[in-house]
Amino acid sequence: MKNVLHIISSPRGEESISVKLGNAITAQVAETFPGSSVTQLDLTVNPFPHIDGEQIKALRTPADLHTAEHKALLKRSDDALAQLFATDIIVIGAPIYNFGIPSTLKSWLDNVVRAGQSFTYASGSPEGLIKGKKAYIAVASGAVFSEGPYTSFDFAISYLKGVLNFIGITDIEVIRAEGLGVPTLQETALDKAISAIAV
Ligand SMILES: Cc1cc2nc3c(=O)[nH]c(=O)nc-3n(C[C@H](O)[C@H](O)[C@H](O)COP(=O)(O)O)c2cc1C
Repeated sequence: MKNVLHIISSPRGEESISVKLGNAITAQVAETFPGSSVTQLDLTVNPFPHIDGEQIKALRTPADLHTAEHKALLKRSDDALAQLFATDIIVIGAPIYNFGIPSTLKSWLDNVVRAGQSFTYASGSPEGLIKGKKAYIAVASGAVFSEGPYTSFDFAISYLKGVLNFIGITDIEVIRAEGLGVPTLQETALDKAISAIAV
């Protein structure tokens, strides 16, 4: 039995390929681990705001000096971190937008990648604090990035893997529905990705 968090960052609802792929992954997880609970976090509904100056001031104030205002400014980030710590398996739906990830997903990451909470330099070198998790990245893209001429443009997945590693999430599987804008690949891209899921 696992606590599964399915993160959605496409605003296209049930038409979204990254949502369909994420759903297929969570379904396989639920089948493999009966009794699992799956929580959907749709970042396109009530998105995390961009980090602003007041939030940075609150982040830089030691916790024992936090005012009620600081606490209020950090509440969403605190809650997002608590949700992540309580998760065993995280499924991240990631459409590729302009060679990157949607800004809603970046804003969520800006709220959970937090000094002293999800990573620390206490020992002098970086240490991720979110340990013992498994992550699946469900990517949807118009082009093909895993091979061919666009491999050097595969920044989004490199970034996601890097930032997850940094906070301690090192067991990561990337499942790609790619070539969705390529006429010869688009019909089969999702099925091919679903058949690559190994839970
Ligand atoms: C604003 C926007 C930017 C996009 N930029 C890229 C891109 O840089 N590279 C790419 O391969 N596909 C790009 N696409 C295509 C999407 O990755 C593709 O449609 C994917 O299926 C979107 O994910 P979704 O189906 O989960 O919404 C873009 C789509 C949109 C809407």
